[in-house]
Amino acid sequence: MFAPLSAYDIDPVTGFVPSADQPERLPPAFEAWELIAADLPPLIRSRRVRDSLRKLPLLDPLVLTDPAEQERALLILTMFAGAWVWGGTEPDLTIPAPVSVPLRALCAVMDRPPIVHYGGMALRNWKRVDKSLPLSADNVRSAINFLGGVDEEWFFLASMGVELEAAPMLPHLRQAVIAAQEGDDAALTAELEAIADAMEPVMAALARMREWCDPYVFFNRVRLYFTGWPEPGVIYEGVSAEPQVHVGGSAGQSALIQAIDAVVGVDHDGMVTGPYFKLMRRYMPGPHRRFVEDLQQVSRVRQRVEAGGEDLRAAYNRVLRQIDRFRAAHRRMAHDYVSVPSGKASGEKGTGGTDFTDFLDDARRETSRKYV
Ligand code: HEM
Repeated sequence: MFAPLSAYDIDPVTGFVPSADQPERLPPAFEAWELIAADLPPLIRSRRVRDSLRKLPLLDPLVLTDPAEQERALLILTMFAGAWVWGGTEPDLTIPAPVSVPLRALCAVMDRPPIVHYGGMALRNWKRVDKSLPLSADNVRSAINFLGGVDEEWFFLASMGVELEAAPMLPHLRQAVIAAQEGDDAALTAELEAIADAMEPVMAALARMREWCDPYVFFNRVRLYFTGWPEPGVIYEGVSAEPQVHVGGSAGQSALIQAIDAVVGVDHDGMVTGPYFKLMRRYMPGPHRRFVEDLQQVSRVRQRVEAGGEDLRAAYNRVLRQIDRFRAAHRRMAHDYVSVPSGKASGEKGTGGTDFTDFLDDARRETSRKYV
């Protein structure tokens, strides 16, 4: 049997996004953080953000016991780290103790990386606008911004919109694995058809990135602050004298596509893709990472399909085609948002640190070679 989705912190309606409104402020003891978080855009613009962060009092985030408050504190501190490193005319690779010490303490208990990552910037960085309406990308604003503006906000919120649209698919991923375990080919065929259908709104949500996030603004203004640490890495003052390298925020850290890959047996074993997809799991919230790992470990879907009849194979191939269509559309997006504004056909890196033209093409090839 496969554990229920609730065991993986997956909401029946909102999927990987938490359904409850996020706290809009930490308790009063953390007011100094909140004041800077609210003013990050003017502080970065005027190059005063490092002065403000350096002067922060050393606060202990471990007094926060509410998981949603811990998430907000982590989001604030990881964004402070990005603002510190990138918020001057040159990068500063030593994050001062008022940021680094509470950040490391929180990361240790939350099992998350000490840098802006998808689990914070896309899954937790929102505030519902009209509380009488449901959670949707059109009914939220982002909670914390670097420079702010509609392009940055929408980059976060459109990513969240993809996750919300994917929510109805997640029970089918689990059910497909169970149907394969039970050897019920009719049920497995139906679950695979449902997964393929559920990819349509996900692709529509991905395309919505283009509505309010302009490629040139994204490339020139937005992405810098969640880019990974440059070599030789960043020193977290008061934590460790050794510089650390962490990759930047990227939807490559989303559990969604990795979960679908895991169910249908798309394995990424390339020299770059193999280690990268594995590394990205370290950046996921623990329960979501375990969901992907458990699906991969127990899924017998592909074995069942290989031995199965025409309908089952057709349904399986349809899912693969949908993943491939998602990856193709996403590949075009990476081209339009990174290659075009950079003026470079190749060699430019993604915020997650890959030489992405080859990387994304390899990920596609590793999908399409799996047709049965
Ligand atoms: C402006 C929008 C986007 C751009 C420019 C972009 C760019 C990239 C790049 C360059 C990578 C390679 C890893 C890296 O170095 O960062 C990547 C990976 C990935 N991105 Fe995006 N991305 C965007 C939006 C999204 C959204 C909204 C999603 C869906 C939630 C998404 C899903 C993925 C996935 C699943 C991967 C891993 C590769 C794969 O599974 O094929 N991306 N993205």
